[in-house]
Amino acid sequence: MRILMVTAEFAPYAKTGGLADMVRSLSLELCRAGNDVRVLLPFHGFLPERYRRDLRPLPGIFSIHLGEDHWARLHECVEPGGLRIYFLEYEKFFGRDRPYDDGYRAYEDNPRRFALLSRAAIDLADFLDWTPDIFHAHDWMAAPVPVYLETVARSGRLGRSASVLTIHNLAHQGYAPPSILDYAGLPGSLFRPDAMEACGGINFLKGGIYFANKLTAVSPTYAREIQGVEQGFGLQDALRFRSGDLLGILNGIDDNLWNPATDPLIGANYSSGDLRGKEVCKKNFLRARGMARSGKMPLFGVIGRLYGQKGLDVLASALPRIFGSMAGVFALLGAGDPALEDRFRSIGASYPGRIFVHIGYDEALAHEIEAASDFFLMPSRFEPCGLNQLYSLRYGTLPIVRGTGGLRDTVIPYDEATGDGTGFVFDHLDENSLHDVIGWATSTYYDRPKHMKVLIRRAMAMDFSWKKSVERYGDCYRWALEMKRRP
Ligand code: ADP
Ligand code: GLC
Repeated sequence: MRILMVTAEFAPYAKTGGLADMVRSLSLELCRAGNDVRVLLPFHGFLPERYRRDLRPLPGIFSIHLGEDHWARLHECVEPGGLRIYFLEYEKFFGRDRPYDDGYRAYEDNPRRFALLSRAAIDLADFLDWTPDIFHAHDWMAAPVPVYLETVARSGRLGRSASVLTIHNLAHQGYAPPSILDYAGLPGSLFRPDAMEACGGINFLKGGIYFANKLTAVSPTYAREIQGVEQGFGLQDALRFRSGDLLGILNGIDDNLWNPATDPLIGANYSSGDLRGKEVCKKNFLRARGMARSGKMPLFGVIGRLYGQKGLDVLASALPRIFGSMAGVFALLGAGDPALEDRFRSIGASYPGRIFVHIGYDEALAHEIEAASDFFLMPSRFEPCGLNQLYSLRYGTLPIVRGTGGLRDTVIPYDEATGDGTGFVFDHLDENSLHDVIGWATSTYYDRPKHMKVLIRRAMAMDFSWKKSVERYGDCYRWALEMKRRP
């Protein structure tokens, strides 16, 4: 099959979170399975120099047919294995330091920026003389793609191309004033509740939900949760309406990048058969951060975007009490909400030797923390899939998670009576529950070392490779095509 991925992020070129990892690893797997997979991505201003060197500008000016024509350039990079990535150069929109915001506020022209990306996906077929069977759009940033396909591009060259929209995070939907339809070159009739209208404006994601041939969410539990009021972010009715076409497919992980037996970014390699390397990783990590004296205490790792979704504000409030009542140390790596960043900086300064705080984005440090920690904390308010708990399981770092979305689907709750499970699962997100579940993990570490060993081995033996999920995406593409090509 010819598949075009349309995405705002793609690792390692542009990444703020799991979206970039997921689209990359899925694309590579589909490529390996023999498909012709290509990716359309903005040429972001922050693309590191070392990647720019490998780009080849494609000859010709690429015209994008929004309400008025826009002219852009395309650059191509072909990865080993044949994966083709197209970088859409449109300086005015994408030549910026960050993908969606200036650090404080979302860019005001985001809807125009991503209408351009989406329309470029449609116009790419003529420019390359290559017709995708499947347009796979990711999140609101690419959600207009199915809308174009079922309206202005319904006949002609793309008349037999189908679309799949994957929902990675329903909290972001892409709102715009109704005038965006004119700008985007979409019919004004889409301003209606069973198309793109919401709260008097235009909602990109809603449009994608109505028009995509098939929808996926990144875990089975999340696919159910988003059809309810609590997690539906106002789109629950639209999602329930498309319920028969919505599949929950769990993300896999990139086994080569996240493998403790071969990872070059960690101090020592290890496997479930021989965990000595993991001890070395912990020792090195604590020594390098001036925490060597805490070597016998459990180490809790935290990595993530510092936004409400991740529940880390509650951790910040719970930490002083946790430091007072139990013997454990923490390592936190994250960036995001400036107020929460400041809170963690000040906790770091107040409890030297008990918590290492690094505010920023650091891929190598993320690997180090995953390998060194005994436990990994994800107290998310909602979590569509979550990749960090999967990396943790692979690294024998027991996840402590709130039972929501993909966290519920991937972590088997520890049973103290039998020693069963792969991690610690709790339900209510408040300071007390967080204190208690961290206490439970701490007492397991000190008092039930045999259980710890069994849990670690079981966690490391779990299979979160793409094998099964890539087959499900294959089915999903076939169903989307059948639906589209039905007379
Ligand atoms: P989300 O996509 O909601 O952020 P995921 O768990 O799916 O959550 O993916 C997060 C990804 O981003 C992981 O690969 C994680 O290691 C990475 N990540 C998040 N914050 C940082 C950071 N500050 N430094 C390095 N990697 C980070
Ligand atoms: C989103 C979600 C996260 C998921 C990732 C990749 O960013 O917040 O849970 O793992 O997308 O699908």
